[in-house]
Amino acid sequence: MKTLLLSLMLLLPGSVLADSQAAIAEQLRQAANGQASATRGEQLFRARTGVGEAASCTDCHTDNPRAIGSHIRTRKAIEPLAPVANPARFTDMAKVEKWFRRNCQDVLGRACTAGEKADFAAYMIAVR
Ligand code: HEC
Repeated sequence: MKTLLLSLMLLLPGSVLADSQAAIAEQLRQAANGQASATRGEQLFRARTGVGEAASCTDCHTDNPRAIGSHIRTRKAIEPLAPVANPARFTDMAKVEKWFRRNCQDVLGRACTAGEKADFAAYMIAVR
């Protein structure tokens, strides 16, 4: 009984985070009329638009979602975007929305659409 309780406690933090990522991805997908594509999300991540202040998401986040990035202006380290490398990602909707707002403006010169956000989250969560 004691062992069972202990293993449940050890399992819990991981599953809570995973649930939360699934819930956030699902919330974004519903906001996008039920459409989310990891393939399109990867295209958005790697696209070089040159419209905004940064040319691409990869300018700060590197072309590897599992890698630590670096801010193009401040040079500050940015923890990996993919939950497989950084379990805290996509677990806080307010934080997700705040950075979509800021980063999409920087790269695209406009806010991301609901579809782009759903695609991007679907891609990041799928990265292994
Ligand atoms: C100018 C640098 C920069 C660029 C370009 C950039 N980001 Fe970011 N991004 C950041 C920083 C800084 C953070 C937050 C720091 C942290 O949480 O470690 C962040 C965090 C995020 C997060 C928060 C995820 C979470 O749950 O914590 C998302 C989503 C995100 N970026 C999406 C994008 C997308 C989409 C693009 C391309 C359209 C992009 N970023 C381009 C700097 C950038």
